[in-house]
Amino acid sequence: MIKFSFTKIVNGELRAIDLENSVNQDITTRVLKEIAKDSMGGWLALPKKYDVGELVKIKEAAKKIQDESEYLVCIGIGGSYLGHRAVIEALNPKSETKVVYAGNSLSKRELDKVIEEIGDADFSVNVISKSGTTLEPAIAFETFKKKLIEKYGEKEAPSRIYATTDAKKGTLHDEAVAEGYTRFVVPDNIGGRYSVLTAVGMLPMAVAGVNIDKLLEGAAEAMEGVVGEAAKYAWTRYTLGGEKNYDTEVFASFEPATMYFNEWLKQLFGESEGKNKQGVFPAAVIYSTDLHSMGQYMQDGRRDLFETIIDYPTDEMNEKVVRAVEIAHNTGGIPVLSLKPSSYDEEGFGELIYFFELACAISAKLFGVNPFDQPGVEAYKAELNKLLGN
Ligand code: PA5
Repeated sequence: MIKFSFTKIVNGELRAIDLENSVNQDITTRVLKEIAKDSMGGWLALPKKYDVGELVKIKEAAKKIQDESEYLVCIGIGGSYLGHRAVIEALNPKSETKVVYAGNSLSKRELDKVIEEIGDADFSVNVISKSGTTLEPAIAFETFKKKLIEKYGEKEAPSRIYATTDAKKGTLHDEAVAEGYTRFVVPDNIGGRYSVLTAVGMLPMAVAGVNIDKLLEGAAEAMEGVVGEAAKYAWTRYTLGGEKNYDTEVFASFEPATMYFNEWLKQLFGESEGKNKQGVFPAAVIYSTDLHSMGQYMQDGRRDLFETIIDYPTDEMNEKVVRAVEIAHNTGGIPVLSLKPSSYDEEGFGELIYFFELACAISAKLFGVNPFDQPGVEAYKAELNKLLGN
């Protein structure tokens, strides 16, 4: 199971600090009960309560997409996008069908790049939006719907569209029902950034060749195995960020392929904690690349940040760099936290996803904010819709 440690230089040596006393067990137990009872806490029991019928449907759809298409265009933003991209990029699995992404910005250049890459190849579309009304994916979906109709005709096009959205409401839901798209549900009790293990992430990951059974197994094992470590990590970051005024947490990974996992972490913590003027600002770096750029600031810039190294199992050379960074940054006056996942594969990422979801929810609760809403994001969406006269 994942191991969390907090190291400090003591008498010139790097030592792991005993963290048992940093966790207030009574508060942790109360917070865990609150999360389990929360109307948006459905992700907590998900790995062990997975609907077998849903999993079969996901695998069948993935097989059909793989048989029919060289590309799957995944349209979505934020929680409807980052989690599956993080796992796909990290594991780089083998599949005849390549997953490409659209609708995660309003850039026409990015959209054109995807269209150009697909060219004349066969493709299908997975449009993912819980609300079914988010502007960026809606615009990209209109474009790809037209492309599907141009290529396959009005009759065949809907059979190549997979809509992952609310079970009962929303523009996308209504259209999917009317047009007969294959539908997958984002459960009511699971919000975007906690939804990677639902159909939101599972369908694209299955198409890309990720072993989704193993991913779920890793997450299911984490349900029992990581609670203690997640609590220690949450309390440590709360103590540093909340009581000692360290404003920023820098997630550091030594595996370039985990860049999108860093992005998912930034979203998870930023959107869950950053409210009521609370939280720790989540930033991320990829080492050793960024040691030659951000490394200077980390070593010697303002001392208002702490660093959380995600120490993925890796080769010997990388391990040496990890130790060197721990010692150098500790010496430079930065609190260094370290997380060691058990493996770099589907099970390891299942474990890691569950660990961070749990740690983030506990941490947000310690900061006294609701981990599951995002009023700031909604505010932006409302303002944009006003400006567009919608
Ligand atoms: O985590 C969240 O809730 C957000 O990041 C949403 O996932 C994001 O805003 C996209 O929303 P939707 O899935 O409704 O299109």
